[in-house]
Amino acid sequence: MTQGMNILLIGSGGREHAMAWKLCQSSRLSKLYIAPGNAGTKTVGTNVDLNPLDFPAVRDFVRGNGIHMVIVGPEAPLVAGIVDYFQSEPFLKYIPVIGPSKLGAMLEGSKEFSKEFMVRHNIPTAGYGSFTTDSLEEGFKFLETLDSPYVLKADGLAGGKGVLICDELVEARIELTSMLVEHKFGSASDKVVIEEFLRGIELSVFVLTDGKNYKILPSAKDYKRIGEGDTGLNTGGMGAISPVPFADQEFMNKVEERIVKPTINGLAKDGIDYRGFVFIGLMNVGGEPFVIEYNVRMGDPETEVVIPRIQTDLVDLFEAVADQTLDKIQLTVDPRTTCTVMLVSDGYPGNYEKGRQIAGLEKVKDSVVFHAGTKDSNGNVLTDGGRVLAITSYGENMTEALEQSYANAHVVNYEGKYFRTDIGFDL
Ligand code: AMP
Ligand code: GLY
Repeated sequence: MTQGMNILLIGSGGREHAMAWKLCQSSRLSKLYIAPGNAGTKTVGTNVDLNPLDFPAVRDFVRGNGIHMVIVGPEAPLVAGIVDYFQSEPFLKYIPVIGPSKLGAMLEGSKEFSKEFMVRHNIPTAGYGSFTTDSLEEGFKFLETLDSPYVLKADGLAGGKGVLICDELVEARIELTSMLVEHKFGSASDKVVIEEFLRGIELSVFVLTDGKNYKILPSAKDYKRIGEGDTGLNTGGMGAISPVPFADQEFMNKVEERIVKPTINGLAKDGIDYRGFVFIGLMNVGGEPFVIEYNVRMGDPETEVVIPRIQTDLVDLFEAVADQTLDKIQLTVDPRTTCTVMLVSDGYPGNYEKGRQIAGLEKVKDSVVFHAGTKDSNGNVLTDGGRVLAITSYGENMTEALEQSYANAHVVNYEGKYFRTDIGFDL
């Protein structure tokens, strides 16, 4: 066991502030660096002006600062192969990176790869076909075999915008053509996965794995649309609740047996090195779980409700992931409910202003404010993104937690503040 760990956490959102906040509570932590971080992470560690996709720069920082472990928040560095880069560099080889290898990251980086993985390992998911420009006609024919609505997914990473749901067949044909032929999502839509539509209610299950063993973390539900009642454009997420009331023991047993175990065993069978988070987006279809997608990182804002419920030391957990000894660790979870309400900039998810001064942070009581898109400017906290602050609260139930977050959502102010007032409305 290494005492006094120096840790480099990669990322700059609410997810990373929540992780940094929790890492700081560990007696095992010596120094915490966040690259690039935000005004919130700056209060719990040292921000480092580093581009996480510039691997040689990350290497030099790790070497120069005696870093013992690297934790990767967002998917981009994982999909670009940061884990493989560390393993290929003699000096970095023995420094654990929490996150999957490049091949493992394809579970998020390629929809076709993840569908093939699920089929290979008998994991329940929507039926699908995969098409390129050369097979456009076959794509049209496949669409005709499906019922409305039609689900079209760009194969590659498209900043969370690559999924289209079309009500009419003619619209689906036009969109398929636009994705494949007109490169609607750039090279991300050179291939398109067409799926059966699953009718149900969504939730996310998070798993931490060392490649052999796993821990199922608390379930969470996020609210993706910008408008009340889940209307309007998709966002990164406007709020979240944990646990999800309908994810009861019976449902979670199905998730574990049918999805989590075959996923972890499938990774091992396929020889994929995976030591990190698996985010499983699920649809509950009449009590039966189906996988909508895998992500290879934690969700945001789900992290802002999941991490505050984990009582186990996060450094111990990550060390066990690196050493493949997760089976030796007890995961303890706070039984209380957590919720988070995201304060955003008006205009988001379209165009919005940045650089507006945030007031009232010091007046927040009995909630934890995780910064999502902020920056520090000579001691002033300024907005620096569409999603600005996530206000997390605990409660004996969902109503209590939400009341607390909403009370504080009114205490913090900046020009153009907007938030949804109906988080949890469907539960
Ligand atoms: P994804 O990026 O794969 O998570 O898809 C974005 C959103 O589209 C999901 O959160 C779902 O709400 C919806 N979605 C994706 N696939 C399906 C499907 N097969 N059936 C119904 N809804 C879906
Ligand atoms: N909140 C959904 C995501 O992180 O992808």
